Amino acid sequence: MPTEVKGGAGRGAFITFEGGEGGGKSTQVQRLVAALRARGVETVATREPGGSPNAEALRDVLLAGLVAPLGPAAEALIFSAARIDHIDNLIRPALQRGAFVVCDRFADSTRAYQGALGKLSETFIDGLEKVTIGDVRPDLTFVLDLPAEEGMARAGARRGRAAADRFEAEAIEFHRALRDSFRAIAAAHPERCVLVDATQGIDEVAADIWAAVCRRFPAVAVASLPT
Ligand code: TYD
Repeated sequence: MPTEVKGGAGRGAFITFEGGEGGGKSTQVQRLVAALRARGVETVATREPGGSPNAEALRDVLLAGLVAPLGPAAEALIFSAARIDHIDNLIRPALQRGAFVVCDRFADSTRAYQGALGKLSETFIDGLEKVTIGDVRPDLTFVLDLPAEEGMARAGARRGRAAADRFEAEAIEFHRALRDSFRAIAAAHPERCVLVDATQGIDEVAADIWAAVCRRFPAVAVASLPT
């Protein structure tokens, strides 16, 4: 019988991973999901843009750069349209049945990429976030932080000979500003965000993340591993 672990009142827990390119988010999502499942916690792993069939279709359009010519406001709207579908069809139902949802990128990415770098007003981003996510706010957000040069080198090595996508193709100044923007988001929301030093090795980063999950959800810490 798995230990019942719930994040907040009457619902599961929502954990997001954020940061620039090459910070190892996907690896850390996998590690955390495996650790939670090993303790009998029902856990849904997902990502943005995407996570539901309609949102995955919009992902292709966005990452191919087809919306870029319309400007950052239009891009923010299409990322948000994908997010609404993802929330309605996957995230909210999972939280309602008490599951943990671990998501690779969420609304902070729109705030950093389209908002800060696209020079959209805070009023625009705040309003968009409010109508898009409503009360589906993350309980805990990991911001994986590393210098832009290191992140881009890692992303390039991972990509090999494949073409860079819409955002990977941006100049290094863009990625430096992106890092500043994610750090500012983490500083503005200390109750929700944990800034993680992503220059460390994979195991050290995973250990920092696990410690923070156990602090935020003490029931997870005492859930026993199968014998
Ligand atoms: P992905 O290949 O998943 O990149 P990463 O491994 O860095 O997460 O592509 C997602 C890209 O979309 C990434 O460059 C960030 C960007 N993005 C936005 O610009 N706004 C958003 O709201 C989201 C969710 C992602």
